[in-house]
Amino acid sequence: MSKPTAHADNITMSGDGLYSLATIGAKDVIDKATPRVIAAINSMPDHQGTWHFSDMGCADGGTSLDLWRSVVKHIRANEASDIQIVYADQARNDFNALVKILHGLTQFDSYLDEHSNVFALESGASFYTPILPSNSLNLGFSATAMHWLSQKPCDIKGHVHMVGANGEDRRAFAAQAAKDWETILLQRAREMKSGAKLVLINFCIDENGNYLGNTGGVNMFDNFNNNWQDFVDQNTITAGEYEAMTLPQYYNTAEEFSQPLLDTNSAVHKAGLRLVDIETAVVPCPFAEDFKVHGNAQQFAKAYIPTIRSWNESTFIGALSADRPTQEREDIIEAYYASYESQVAQNPQDHGMGYVHAYMTIEKL
Ligand SMILES: C[S@@+](CC[C@H](N)C(=O)[O-])C[C@H]1O[C@@H](n2cnc3c(N)ncnc32)[C@H](O)[C@@H]1O
Repeated sequence: MSKPTAHADNITMSGDGLYSLATIGAKDVIDKATPRVIAAINSMPDHQGTWHFSDMGCADGGTSLDLWRSVVKHIRANEASDIQIVYADQARNDFNALVKILHGLTQFDSYLDEHSNVFALESGASFYTPILPSNSLNLGFSATAMHWLSQKPCDIKGHVHMVGANGEDRRAFAAQAAKDWETILLQRAREMKSGAKLVLINFCIDENGNYLGNTGGVNMFDNFNNNWQDFVDQNTITAGEYEAMTLPQYYNTAEEFSQPLLDTNSAVHKAGLRLVDIETAVVPCPFAEDFKVHGNAQQFAKAYIPTIRSWNESTFIGALSADRPTQEREDIIEAYYASYESQVAQNPQDHGMGYVHAYMTIEKL
């Protein structure tokens, strides 16, 4: 295997713990996977010695605290063995925020002090590269991270995301995604022990054509694109800056996720990985759900925009010309989200970022 790229440029989550504060929905998605993770652990009855876990693409770690709290509690109910959780994210992640959250220096309630012999380690290794020693992992977990490609295969014409790409552009993204998915799985196959499991929760396009922000009402990605195009029409940005705004992401279907695990000729299958099961699920946008209760459009818009910003602001900034002074770039981005916020405030019932994921369990023979 050639050495894979560790990460695409211009993708970072909000720092200083803001990521987890803004993304309650991502926590809902992880909490929904807790029974799946516990079932995967229960399926390894012959386990002995230290439990080795990983949380790949963990960001600041706040959204998965309750998952790991449940896992540790579950294991401790039966045995006292050591538990090690390696928190891995790309090297440009805000690891200070992660360390502070894990070690109780924030408003988040960490689980680390609740039991003895639980060890959290931090790693800056990308999931496109080895993270752990060979044959060492019992259970690898990842949520809402593997849609980030190792690189952008091309700039998408006429859209900012692959969900709006057609023809050659769409095919280039699909080919990159298939290669990246294979790399992720082969890297994990190397580090998994025999009988180990992966529980991966990844954004997907489900069997009804739903995907993130496209579960009814305004299509969020079309809205990003239309607003960015409006900025060209208003001479706020150039046509080149519009074109450079392509998110290096791909949302697989359940079939695309399953393909290398089911194909007996694939390198992944030959490496011993098998699909235990895969299902898709929609988790409603928590901000839109709150709005149904409180009915305050301004409050909804104010709470909702930071969740979008937390994951796409760095890509929008990266699309702006480096010739612009920093302040000018920041002003453009502020104006972009301000205009989005006022759209939401005007037509709140049309907006929301429902999450659409494939939940899968994979085992190594
Ligand atoms: C939306 S956040 C998800 C965070 C957390 N897992 C959750 O579900 O709330 C996506 C994370 O994936 C990370 N990421 C993106 N590409 C990565 C890579 N190649 N290797 C490791 N992490 C990566 C990002 O840095 C970010 O922290």
